[in-house]
Amino acid sequence: MTAQLIDGNALSKQLRGEVAKRAAALRERGIVPGLAVVLVGENPASQVYVRNKVKACQDSGLHSVLEQYPATLRQADLLARIDALNKDPAIHGILVQLPLPAHIDAQKVIETISPAKDVDGFHVASAGALMVGQPGFWPCTPYGCMKMLEAIGYDLKGKHAVVIGRSNIVGKPMALMLLQKNATVTICHSGTQNLKALTLQADVIVAAVGKRNVLTADMVKPGAVVIDVGMNRIPDGEPGAGKLCGDVDFSAVKEVAGWITPVPGGVGPMTITMLLVNTLEAAERG
Ligand code: GUN
Repeated sequence: MTAQLIDGNALSKQLRGEVAKRAAALRERGIVPGLAVVLVGENPASQVYVRNKVKACQDSGLHSVLEQYPATLRQADLLARIDALNKDPAIHGILVQLPLPAHIDAQKVIETISPAKDVDGFHVASAGALMVGQPGFWPCTPYGCMKMLEAIGYDLKGKHAVVIGRSNIVGKPMALMLLQKNATVTICHSGTQNLKALTLQADVIVAAVGKRNVLTADMVKPGAVVIDVGMNRIPDGEPGAGKLCGDVDFSAVKEVAGWITPVPGGVGPMTITMLLVNTLEAAERG
């Protein structure tokens, strides 16, 4: 069996078209949805990510500002800047790119963002809202994964979903979103014994560890849906060195799975798309 691809680029294009239409409707009412992206330091990967986020805003008719600060920025100064953005009526969403330099307490920074502008969904108020099923912003990556499942018309009710990874950004919120759709959810992590015995029972597997080949073909039930959140580089000396790859052994797993997301072109573009959706929602909520 060869799995069907879930194309994150195509789905993103469709969703971003809808965002652009809703943004145009808001502009007619005199509201321009605005996102502030804050980057501290010179992490090259972060620089690429924030540039992509700002460009995606521009392409969909959202206003965006990129604020870049040196790695030596004092925490107090960053908090003061976030306070100012919280009060700025032209800004509906605030994103502070992670990781932050070691002298800055990232959780403290996140908690300073107003929950009404927390389009990353990382604030404890956003996490709590997701946990109890109240309205709030959902973290963009797991939200994008849910949209992919929705796009293939997958009914999660009563299905067994296995999430590999327990981060606050992906694994934990992913599990809560799947639970909200009535899946039976198992969260696996580095301390899990016999991961394969669990993944073999899964109807849906989300791999979000950040390590190549965490999920191999022998670990997948035929026909399962496989969502690959990983973003890794193939190391030097191996075939395809330097290329992007996910956490899933894609070429082998696609022969077993029913549906699979590729890397690149799967979850990655969906993360940015859901950031646009959250920013638009923030502007619509006013
Ligand atoms: N660093 C890696 N992914 C993300 C993300 O989704 N949001 C933020 N703010 N930083 C990140």
